[in-house]
Amino acid sequence: MQPALRPVRSGPEGRRPLPRSAARPAALPVAGGSPHRDRAGLVLSIEGLSLAFGGTVAFAEIDLAVGAGEIHAVIGPNGAGKSSLINAVTGLYAPQAGRVRIGAEAFARVPAGRLAALGVARTFQNLALFAGLSVRDNVLSGLAAARRAGLGAQILGLPAARREALAHRDAAEAVIGRLGLGAVADRPAGRLPYGLQKRVELGRALVARPRLLLLDEPMAGMTATEKAEMTGFIRAARETSGAAIVLIEHDIGVVMRLSDRVTVLDHGRRIATGTPAQVQADPAVIAAYLGLADEDADAEAA
Ligand SMILES: Nc1ncnc2c1ncn2[C@@H]1O[C@H](COP(=O)(O)OP(=O)(O)OP(=O)(O)O)[C@@H](O)[C@H]1O
Ligand SMILES: [Mg+2]
Repeated sequence: MQPALRPVRSGPEGRRPLPRSAARPAALPVAGGSPHRDRAGLVLSIEGLSLAFGGTVAFAEIDLAVGAGEIHAVIGPNGAGKSSLINAVTGLYAPQAGRVRIGAEAFARVPAGRLAALGVARTFQNLALFAGLSVRDNVLSGLAAARRAGLGAQILGLPAARREALAHRDAAEAVIGRLGLGAVADRPAGRLPYGLQKRVELGRALVARPRLLLLDEPMAGMTATEKAEMTGFIRAARETSGAAIVLIEHDIGVVMRLSDRVTVLDHGRRIATGTPAQVQADPAVIAAYLGLADEDADAEAA
């Protein structure tokens, strides 16, 4: 199901103007740093990563480092390369240059089949739930890759397989409880309002207790109330798990309030990295945002 409120692409380059409030960086709220940032505990390190599809550059020469317990936002206009970057970190895309370090391991192409073992979980920009399955089973599916018992042992109900199934069920119930999904746990995920479906997707990612959590627009299409709730859930996930969190988000107010550090992409290039306060004062970022505001004004005048 597509979000009813999802902003549409616009402008000659298909770029989505940021909200007017976001297009004027000087007016953005300021957030401080976080005591949770720990540079010694780098979980994700992206070094000189580049990816093109034929002649289309998705992103080029990207450097990004995220520490344990850090919420690192990646922002930028439509087509800036944000989702492609997450897709490269999760092995869906094969970059042409650079490397991705997850913990102590470095990869030219991240092995998608080893994500769970590497402690990586993600959500998708467009929901990727099992619409016909219950909320509980969708959350449980986040543990499928962590299952040790073989199919035979599961079918035969051998003790180890039963213990594991119970432990997974407990873990799913705990996440369902923490995210306030208890009342809808037996309902098919596809029948839930969009905001709740996004929450189920977060639950499916959290249940595996990832050390690296990648969230691609977890609040897109949400109401202000839903965004405030989701902000709380993401913050709580960081507090309880100490995971490194990469957050792609278009709502600049949310980004400024929630993140410890922000990386700004524009046309596939990293144009700034810093604290929210540093980034909002960065001339290159202001220029990029003012460019969008100008496009917006041109479109209105036309
Ligand atoms: N599978 C693909 N095949 C071809 N081109 C792609 C593919 N995935 C992404 N691209 C291109 O790479 C560029 C970056 O796209 P990407 O989806 O990463 O942007 P984004 O920053 O996530 O944008 P949005 O804010 O709209 O989600 C775009 O030009 C896009 O068309
Ligand atoms: Mg995207």
